Amino acid sequence: MDIYDAIYNRRITRDFQDKIVPDGILERIINAGLQAPTHDHLRNWEFVILKDKQDKEQALQFIKQGVKPQLEILKQTLVNGTPQQKMYADAMPKQYSMLYNASHIILPFFKSNSGVLHPSSVSSLNPISSIWCVIENIFLAATAEGLACSMRIPVGNEGLSVAQIVGAPDDYLLPCYIGLGYPADDKVVVEQVEYSAKQKMHFGKW
Ligand SMILES: Cc1cc2nc3c(=O)[nH]c(=O)nc-3n(C[C@H](O)[C@H](O)[C@H](O)COP(=O)(O)O)c2cc1C
Repeated sequence: MDIYDAIYNRRITRDFQDKIVPDGILERIINAGLQAPTHDHLRNWEFVILKDKQDKEQALQFIKQGVKPQLEILKQTLVNGTPQQKMYADAMPKQYSMLYNASHIILPFFKSNSGVLHPSSVSSLNPISSIWCVIENIFLAATAEGLACSMRIPVGNEGLSVAQIVGAPDDYLLPCYIGLGYPADDKVVVEQVEYSAKQKMHFGKW
């Protein structure tokens, strides 16, 4: 697939087929992630891959709470809301299922330093900036393979709890969970707010 096709076809997907992604494809996608630019040349990234139901349940146990009370409001929003509200209405009830039902959960860990969570400048955030380049490469490679990804940012202590459960070293942080799989035929495609380069470019001066 042409790189522009991958970029334009990439969408966060929260509905998956019950179909396993072959190991060879998974490996190609992780290799694509490893091609990302890195602030320190070291590529201090590690990937915990969860495929078995029991492993997924363990890692996702911290997500289950907190979604249900909002469901009715969210359903209303799906019909009447702005594009952003509609995204939330689709996404919030699926935070667990969009990962559990994916063929694989990829947990991309990056080596942190004391500046990442208490930054004094933008460059203190370099380790987290680098891992997000990795994550986007994974999304694009998955799209090129005819696959799709879901993504969740851990909230509160969720990331640390998941890291502990999968045995990650203390100095490695989890920026997000990625669900990887074959998109469902009837997947929800959430409307986007579209912009063009012409609206966003400022030549010479803002
Ligand atoms: C930094 C970041 C955090 C996000 N957090 C979540 C999340 O916690 N749960 C979720 O379902 N989607 C999450 N998303 C996905 C966005 O909802 C999605 O990218 C957005 O609606 C645009 O849709 P698209 O990716 O299909 O173009 C996140 C995306 C980004 C870049």
